[in-house]
Amino acid sequence: MKICVIGTGYVGLVGAAVFADMGNTVVGVDKDKAKIAKVTSGVMPIYELGLDEIVLRNVKNGNLRFTTSTPEGVSQSDVIFICVGTPQDDTGAADLTAVMAVAKEVGQNLNGYKIVVTKSTVPVGTNERVEQVIKENAQAGMDFDVVSNPEFLREGAAIEDMRNTNRTVVGTKSARALNMMRELYKGFNAPFVECDLRSAEMIKYASNALLATKISFINEIGQLCERAGANVQVVAEGVGLDKRIGRAFLNATGVGYGGSCFPKDVAALYKTSTDQAYDFKLLRSVMEVNELQKFNFMKKITKAMGENLSGCTIGVLGLAFKNDTDDIRESGAIKMIRMIRGYGAELRVYDPAAMENTKKVFGHDQIYYANDMYDAIKDVDALCIFTEWGNFKLLDLTKTKQLMKGNLIFDARNLLDQKAVESSGFVYIAVGKRTNGYTEDGDIVSTAILKNGR
Ligand code: UDX
Repeated sequence: MKICVIGTGYVGLVGAAVFADMGNTVVGVDKDKAKIAKVTSGVMPIYELGLDEIVLRNVKNGNLRFTTSTPEGVSQSDVIFICVGTPQDDTGAADLTAVMAVAKEVGQNLNGYKIVVTKSTVPVGTNERVEQVIKENAQAGMDFDVVSNPEFLREGAAIEDMRNTNRTVVGTKSARALNMMRELYKGFNAPFVECDLRSAEMIKYASNALLATKISFINEIGQLCERAGANVQVVAEGVGLDKRIGRAFLNATGVGYGGSCFPKDVAALYKTSTDQAYDFKLLRSVMEVNELQKFNFMKKITKAMGENLSGCTIGVLGLAFKNDTDDIRESGAIKMIRMIRGYGAELRVYDPAAMENTKKVFGHDQIYYANDMYDAIKDVDALCIFTEWGNFKLLDLTKTKQLMKGNLIFDARNLLDQKAVESSGFVYIAVGKRTNGYTEDGDIVSTAILKNGR
């Protein structure tokens, strides 16, 4: 099939690469000239394992090319994917400016029957507006259909997710469009959910909101576990074995969920509910809990180290919003660093992929960018782990003890082995469980006790 993918961000670039790899003829379109030049030469604008190899292979064999010209991409294709960003606006709603601008250009350049497929995450009713805008801008009598085909790609696992998706959701009112989508996805071995436009749009938001709800739920169970003397990791295992619930997305975290999707999509769904005069109370709490997690974790740090952190140095492992990505958008780690800096501490930070992005946000004021994880903990009073990178689990505790000045470890991801950390002479404070950083009454141990322990 001849496919045009408009927007070569995460979703567009991965989609274009995988569709091309399946033998389709794909043109990727982006207004950003520098980006197009980079991608064409095999330099990926995003960090995604294996993507460069697929792109280069398909550019070479002629299945994939890139252009900055929407008219060129649209006129030469039968299927047009809209994959541009829908960032959060000031009201919490999804900003549809880019989607509507693309719809207009697609309309202006229609030169025969095409299907226009929205992959961008858009609120219920958007595809009907897209249809309207295309119609208003197309020549009279030009035939087309719109389709909603949301993506469910996780950053860091996007290619795997695209190839082995759990389901393909296709919303459309046209039998002709549905057949074309079936043909396009016939190589994917996944259930095909065909539905109306609005249900397809809602499936995407409901999925992300439910996953975010799982995280906020386990984070609240974690709060309760700490107070009641239970262990949230054990609880998550026990609960997750129930097939109706599942173990995924039950990892409690002191920094909350982040990224370019969950925070924005939950807020947008909440905005949709208020627009429909419905107060989605559960969702409001999901967002509130997510923000509170960070303040509660900061409280652990100040309870242990005191309210005035000037003169203290804190080592930070993890800056990205999750492991296996360089993305720091809505990263809990970045928010934590902002708070810690506000309390006056100096920071030594390290992340395997997100250093450059973080430098752009903070510059060098109060922050040293370390060369590796051990460089980040040299002479620090305390160590904070904010992102669940696999490598951090391998931290050599004996070496860490020698390198650090203090003996405090705050593990916001429950990444380290509690027994090993405690028996190596550290005071360990994590998430949703009592550790040697707590008094018998369940309070965080005070600065005085810690100082004596040094
Ligand atoms: C998400 C959805 O998973 C994907 O389907 C959608 O299309 C885009 O949004 P992504 O943003 O890449 O993908 O991240 P994901 O892996 O879902 O993690 C989101 C956040 O939740 C991260 O900050 C992660 O650290 C956090 N998380 C995840 C937890 O805190 N606990 C968990 O148990 C799982």
